[in-house]
Amino acid sequence: MGNILAGKKGIISGALDSQSIAWKVAERCVEEGAQIVLTNAPVAMRMGEINGLAEKCNAPVIGADATSLEDLENLFQKSMEHFGGKVDFVLHSIGMSVNVRKGKSYTDLNYEWMQKTFDVSAISFHKMMQTMWKLDAINDWGSIVGLTYIAAQRVFPDYSEMAESKALLESFARSFGYHYGTRNHVRVNTVSQSPTMTTAGKGVKGFMDFFGYAEKMSPLGNAPADACADYCVMLFSDLTRYVTMQNLYHDGGFSNMGMSPSLLEG
Ligand SMILES: NC(=O)c1ccc[n+]([C@@H]2O[C@H](COP(=O)([O-])OP(=O)(O)OC[C@H]3O[C@@H](n4cnc5c(N)ncnc54)[C@H](O)[C@@H]3O)[C@@H](O)[C@H]2O)c1
Repeated sequence: MGNILAGKKGIISGALDSQSIAWKVAERCVEEGAQIVLTNAPVAMRMGEINGLAEKCNAPVIGADATSLEDLENLFQKSMEHFGGKVDFVLHSIGMSVNVRKGKSYTDLNYEWMQKTFDVSAISFHKMMQTMWKLDAINDWGSIVGLTYIAAQRVFPDYSEMAESKALLESFARSFGYHYGTRNHVRVNTVSQSPTMTTAGKGVKGFMDFFGYAEKMSPLGNAPADACADYCVMLFSDLTRYVTMQNLYHDGGFSNMGMSPSLLEG
């Protein structure tokens, strides 16, 4: 399509299958001239679909459980060896709730599972950044993006403990954004995406009803994964060099709506 990422090198986490938001981001980054490394949890890689994407994007796949500092260190070290230097951008596209998966209600949560949820869905973002920081793995003026959801600000009851995970994720982006900004001019942002038909999305109870509700509530309709990929490409590009520590809504206008007549029309 274009080449606004020409010469840039990035790491994309979270591409599970062709519906994954990260899958689309990977494809778009390569279309725009970037070189990438793909990563996912070893268990997700065993499903094998990522290999098709790797071939298409001419990208190596380096497995890493994002909760493991050892795996993350290996990921960034191997990526720098592969690129022959530091990276320019990183996508965190990782989320999973154990309590949601096991059908536990919000008023009866298992706290060990909650810790695991926070570790996978939010603390992994800090772990990624801290690992990069210590290895000095990202170039000055680089860009780091994490994917989030508006349940961090408003109540969506079925989203359960993922709401707190996202609040934590967004806070890590702001706090680390300060440190990375002052040391390396690296920016850190979160993109708050519309409900999207993916494995993680469909795991939330009542997702289809909710998807339809958000579709009607948003003047532009729900933002699809392809459009989210475009937005991430822009954030990785040099066109957004002074955007940092922001939670950026990519939601067709949903976040600023109060009431939509189209919902009352039934
Ligand atoms: N789908 C939606 O409606 C929606 C809306 C807003 C934000 N998001 C966010 O977008 C991101 C991507 O989700 P998606 O919707 O593309 O779904 P997805 O299921 O395709 O992606 C989630 C990814 O997380 C990976 N993952 C889980 N545990 C991991 C671990 N320990 N280490 C490394 N990777 C691990 C999975 O393997 C998978 O690739 C998530 O942060 C999600 O919360 C999704």
